Amino acid sequence: MVFDDLTALISAQRAEAWREMARVVAHEIKNPLTPIQLSAQRMRRKFEKNAPDFPKVFDDATNTIIHEVAQMKNLVDKFSQLARKGDAPFDETRPPGEGPESLSDISLLELAPAPAPLHDVIEEVVNLYRDTTPGVELVTDLDPAVDLVNIDTEQIKRVFANLVKNAIDAIGEEGTVRLSTKRAGDGRSVTVTVADDGPGVAPEVADRIFRPYVSTKPTGAGLGLAIVARIVEDHGGTVSVTNNDPTGARFTLTLPLG
Ligand SMILES: Nc1ncnc2c1ncn2[C@@H]1O[C@H](COP(=O)(O)OP(=O)(O)OP(=O)(O)O)[C@@H](O)[C@H]1O
Ligand SMILES: [Mg+2]
Repeated sequence: MVFDDLTALISAQRAEAWREMARVVAHEIKNPLTPIQLSAQRMRRKFEKNAPDFPKVFDDATNTIIHEVAQMKNLVDKFSQLARKGDAPFDETRPPGEGPESLSDISLLELAPAPAPLHDVIEEVVNLYRDTTPGVELVTDLDPAVDLVNIDTEQIKRVFANLVKNAIDAIGEEGTVRLSTKRAGDGRSVTVTVADDGPGVAPEVADRIFRPYVSTKPTGAGLGLAIVARIVEDHGGTVSVTNNDPTGARFTLTLPLG
């Protein structure tokens, strides 16, 4: 390849990396908007009815709003910092012309892992999505042997938020999303499953759903699971999907311990 072609290729890749980063920012800003909106609505309802539990709802709702907005702000700040520097990261090894296997090297999703209580992150996501869809129940089955895990809590929260949101989308009207954890017998990893009783993953996309831009939803970006895969792999873990019994999808993550 001559030098000019290479320069053109690199600048095309760079432009594509920017587009991708902008899509990821938009996607991850959209996710918390529903919980934020619901928190404000709940607070307002309780206030109007002069409900006795208003102080508790007020406390929870304002906490959620303040916390979620702070995280959105973080993401936007990171994005603007990268934009100021002007060098979008991109993956030079990505085969040109083919659909991407994974997201490019998005430094927005870079990790700052530290030992943290995994279950707190799961509970936080469950609380966020608990009342977003009336017929959907969120249940947890958490192994008391699981404690601190070396994670970037903000990024791992994105993982569970995307999986729970997908499960709720799949269920539609009525069903259950179950989040479970289990410490491996050898103590070297923890397994987290997010299982639902919706229709399950459509067979025609089942082998591609972790790739970016694969979606069966009319307005889906197809980014949720690509973000999940990137973050879990960066933690040295794995993610896979199987059918749930008797129906639905079951996403299984493993995260290394120590
Ligand atoms: N729990 C699930 N049950 C059934 N199908 C699922 C489930 N989770 C994911 N899928 C399938 O995988 C596809 C990709 O999911 P992904 O989260 O990457 O994108 P999306 O949800 O379509 O769009 P978005 O970018 O808004 O997340 C979905 O369109 C859907 O077909
Ligand atoms: Mg999704």
